[in-house]
Amino acid sequence: NKGNYEHYMQKEIHEQPESLRTTMRGRLIRGGSCKAKTVLLGGLKDHLKTIRRSRRIVFIGCGTSYNAALAARPILEELSGIPVTMEIASDLLDRQGPIYREDTAVFVSQSGETADTLNALEYALENGALCVGITNTVGSAIARNTHCGVHINAGAEIGVASTKAYTSQIVVMAMLALAIGDDAISSQGRRETIIDGLCELPGKVREVLKLDQEMKDLAKLLIAEQSLLVFGRGYNYATALEGALKVKEVALMHSEGILAGEMKHGPLALVDENLPIVVIATRDACFSKQQSVIQQLHARKGRLIVMCSKGDSASVCVGGSCRVIEVPQVEDCLQPVINVVPLQLLAYHLTVLRGYNVDQPRNLAKSVTTQ
Ligand code: UD1
Ligand code: BG6
Repeated sequence: NKGNYEHYMQKEIHEQPESLRTTMRGRLIRGGSCKAKTVLLGGLKDHLKTIRRSRRIVFIGCGTSYNAALAARPILEELSGIPVTMEIASDLLDRQGPIYREDTAVFVSQSGETADTLNALEYALENGALCVGITNTVGSAIARNTHCGVHINAGAEIGVASTKAYTSQIVVMAMLALAIGDDAISSQGRRETIIDGLCELPGKVREVLKLDQEMKDLAKLLIAEQSLLVFGRGYNYATALEGALKVKEVALMHSEGILAGEMKHGPLALVDENLPIVVIATRDACFSKQQSVIQQLHARKGRLIVMCSKGDSASVCVGGSCRVIEVPQVEDCLQPVINVVPLQLLAYHLTVLRGYNVDQPRNLAKSVTTQ
């Protein structure tokens, strides 16, 4: 049921304030001051000790689910102090990469049925790792076959391009980081700030959704382009990859997410006055580095669309020559949840304007159950 919406993707983008609320329901525990100060993930509470003792946490997934894990990696590293590595499920299997008994392997999958991810799960089980699932589908193969896990509770997702599951996955993995780091006194203040940030997140997502018309206008400008680059770094490297994935899978436009720190090592050669480039430059520890990236792209006459925090237009847009997308600022590790939304809206409007099928893009399936 699409309700008042024309497409499932549109509906699922706009219901993110509610899906995020459902994801967090009952999992943020309120302290005396009526503020949530700790997290409770029922599916993990008996396994946290084992996870804390593991030598490595390895995230395994495909497509959007992989990107969500990449978005959560920095906060998990910070709060757990455990090395976190990333594996695309098929690549882990192609290499038969090492997985050990001392590892915690986290399988991220909206459907819980993706063949590559399931095969990687079987492989990790054989190798004796603790296997944790993060899935949207109760009773799915991944939910059944992992030792423990967390349901993201985002509600059924119909559009082939994953949107609300992505933001709920990030939130669950941020809560996972909070739960694992829960025994460290030194980071208690940081954890409480993040928990406050989680409580405010649905409202901030509602705010960023107001950019809908602005993204439609931007899509009109980009309708006939061949390609779109998206630059991000730090917490928002994943946002760049996910924004580009949305544009390519539904709008059928070539798009590449680029780690801004790698700009000089190749991508800079592509920059000219024609190729549109989105640069994500919201406030965090990488902000000044992103400002210098913008200056370098500008010096090469790049066609820039800069995403920045509210009120920062003047600090990011050199000489006022670029288009700016201003988004609400939230706690740094939660910013990817906000920043992906305008890119989801852009991909959606580009697709509709270009006349393609939004909910069932050419050649793709919601759940890929064959290798
Ligand atoms: C559970 C109930 C929820 C209820 C809540 C009340 C289910 C599915 N969830 O939610 O309806 O409101 O208690 O306290 O009945 N699991 C895996 N692998 C996965 C995902 C989950 O093994 O990929 C396991 C978990 O370890 C857990 C169970 O499935 O044992 C349910 O997980 P989850 O729904 O996340 O737990 P709660 O949030 O506690
Ligand atoms: C497919 C979908 O390729 O599988 C993507 O088209 C999705 O949207 C990917 O991200 C992984 O799916 P899942 O269900 O394992 O998260």
